[in-house]
Amino acid sequence: MTQNLEIQPHAERLMALEPQLVIWRRHLHRHPEVSFQEHQTAAYIAAELRGMGGLEVSQLTPTSVLAIRRGTRPGKTVLLRADIDALPMSEENSFEFVSQNSGSMHACGHDGHTAILLGVAQLVSEQADWDGELRMIFQHAEEQSPGGAEELVFASALMDGVDVVTGLHLNSQLPVGVVAVRPGAFMAAPDNIYITILGRGGHAAHPEEAVDPIVVGAQVVTNLQHIVSRGVSALDSLVVSVTYFQAGTTTNVIPDRAELKGTVRSFDPELRERAPAMIERVVRGVCEAHGARYEYRYENGYRPLINDDGVAEVLRQVALEVVGEERTVLAKPTMGGEDFSAYLEKAPGAYFNVGSRNDGLESGFPHHHPRFTIDEAALGTGVEMMYAAAIRLAKG
Ligand code: NI
Repeated sequence: MTQNLEIQPHAERLMALEPQLVIWRRHLHRHPEVSFQEHQTAAYIAAELRGMGGLEVSQLTPTSVLAIRRGTRPGKTVLLRADIDALPMSEENSFEFVSQNSGSMHACGHDGHTAILLGVAQLVSEQADWDGELRMIFQHAEEQSPGGAEELVFASALMDGVDVVTGLHLNSQLPVGVVAVRPGAFMAAPDNIYITILGRGGHAAHPEEAVDPIVVGAQVVTNLQHIVSRGVSALDSLVVSVTYFQAGTTTNVIPDRAELKGTVRSFDPELRERAPAMIERVVRGVCEAHGARYEYRYENGYRPLINDDGVAEVLRQVALEVVGEERTVLAKPTMGGEDFSAYLEKAPGAYFNVGSRNDGLESGFPHHHPRFTIDEAALGTGVEMMYAAAIRLAKG
């Protein structure tokens, strides 16, 4: 590992910080709170930040926290973002710091993101001076559309004067110590569809007197698969997944309706614009063919996450210095969504991944899995990356 004292914290400072990173992460892991309900989490973060000194700590929304470090030397205004929310699911890990809030779990690594940004705040607060202005936003509700970023970006003054923005996601599919960056399209727009098939209920012995919404719904699910396979160029990316199908109550009753829900993922704005009508055409056609009616709603989710090429290159350079050439990789684009894209509406920026997989520690479960966890060694890498990126980006 190369040591560049200009942008990297001294090794001793980082080593001293590492036990604290683990304490923060485990506290958050023990006390997860789901989107828009992160009250204790925000209070904990604010108290930790106030204890550091030298930071202006405030709350722009009830469950997010902003810390600002104003420098005396000229420089850019840089925004660093960590998401802080957990998921509504039950943890199946057995380590001693498992979730104490039943039905809530940090299964995406946001506990780690929060610990990392607290670590950066600690280093920055110890720094004698700073270039420009550093804003560190601990953002609520990444996991639930419309998302916390939307609220902070469009309904608060958070982005006023921000020149550049960055943030990271731990990645359980990347080995610990690896940093992945990608210019351009990185994460998809995750839209939702809601379909109700309106049939006519009746006795299961006499289907000829009913319009069976289950059979019609099954045809809708099957026919929706033709959109991607037959209706979209193989060179464009689109996912249509029906993830919810609910109908009926018992064996001898044909119900009068079936509820379907699903997700539609895309990068290309033009394709995204076509998707709602392509889907409705299938729903309408299948329903008409079988004498059913329908209700249909297409809900736009987060914007696609498109990294700024210049900022992504700065992050790649930083990664080369922090983790070295062998551990700096080109990230693959993913059909996952991320409300970090909202910040990119207001300022150039880039999002990147830090690996947290260590098979010896069983930290390779996918995100949102009940046994998801991270190798805590990734926390130090995250701090080094964010701290170095902040210094580099502040110089412009
Ligand atoms: Ni996440």
